[in-house]
Amino acid sequence: MNLDEVAELGEKHLIDVYNRLPIMLEGGQGTRVWDSEGNEYLDFVAGIAVNSVGHCHPNVVEAVREQAGKLIHCSNFYHIESQAKLAEKISEISFGDKVFFGNSGTEANEAAIKLARKATDNTEIIAAEGSFHGRSLGSLSATWKDRYRGPFQPLVPDFSFVPYGDTEEIKNRVSGETAAVMLEPIQGEGGVNIPPEGYLEAVRDICNDTGTLLVFDEVQTGMGRTGKWFGYQHHDVEPDIISLAKSLGGGLPIGAMVAKKEVGEAFTPGDHASTFGGNPIACSAALATIKTMENDNLIKRSREHGAYMKNQLKDLIHQDQNNWINEVRGRGLMIGLETDGKAQEIVDKALEKKVLLNKVSEDVIRFVPPLTVTKKEIDKVVSLIG
Ligand SMILES: Cc1ncc(COP(=O)(O)O)c(C=O)c1O
Repeated sequence: MNLDEVAELGEKHLIDVYNRLPIMLEGGQGTRVWDSEGNEYLDFVAGIAVNSVGHCHPNVVEAVREQAGKLIHCSNFYHIESQAKLAEKISEISFGDKVFFGNSGTEANEAAIKLARKATDNTEIIAAEGSFHGRSLGSLSATWKDRYRGPFQPLVPDFSFVPYGDTEEIKNRVSGETAAVMLEPIQGEGGVNIPPEGYLEAVRDICNDTGTLLVFDEVQTGMGRTGKWFGYQHHDVEPDIISLAKSLGGGLPIGAMVAKKEVGEAFTPGDHASTFGGNPIACSAALATIKTMENDNLIKRSREHGAYMKNQLKDLIHQDQNNWINEVRGRGLMIGLETDGKAQEIVDKALEKKVLLNKVSEDVIRFVPPLTVTKKEIDKVVSLIG
């Protein structure tokens, strides 16, 4: 089927929740994708921070093939080797000893909200203005944007918001009745917002004082995106729970909630479950993804190439004709460029040059390419902008 036929078929039968571009991607390798018309694109969207090891990495493809030939799915009634091994690996690289697997970031956050309630016997969750945690009723209740929340009121009770980065405000609001404070170590959908120095540490102290759990949503910042395995590792702080998804499975759908041992043990059989959660193929893909990240030094690469890209973009600010660029911010290869309302124009211009970019608002472009991206590819994107 060609693009027009697929678009027409989708229009007829798919529920209309996505604004789609008139492009049908059919193939990908590394930082490149191809569409049905034979165009090749440089991909700085990467499935929204998913394809960190690049599209169709041979190790991931091989792991999926091998597992699919053995067992595609089995219930969590039974033990699953790749699931147990993945939990061990995540424990090794993070703070947490206990892992629950779901299929998406939303589900990981949903699990985190439930676990925080059960572990503390409290219901109040404090999230941040500008946050994005998902769109199921629980995770949507922790999501800030009124556009997403408005049509679905009433949401889950006992959620409230504080300004991101405001230590005083969080001090005033958190009490012994608060189950959890839920924050992104860098707000992604909110505009690539970096917390002020010392903020996450201060929140940790406040949570310690009140017996409140600290949950970091690492769905976007996790798995090397920011130049460390996890966004929280840029700070002197350890959370009680994190949520993961996006790049964890190298493109396969998988989410994880990781908890400290004593917190994770608050869940007992029947408290939570997922038919597909920790599926053998998704876990095998995730193991292959992590191994590839380690063998190919992709976290260091994220740090170094991210710093390179940030500097190249910052240089644009100093050029006279670019007074519409306000700020460049980010960590590793999670970078935001704040403009004066020019985000769409830049995304359109890039598309004409066969580069995929994504805007998170009218002002901010978010760059989240595969961590395998080269300096030459970064130069190409930067030269498109300035
Ligand atoms: C920080 C964060 N949390 C949660 C989610 C939701 O993840 P998913 O779309 O996999 O459900 C996203 C998605 O963009 C996200 O960026």
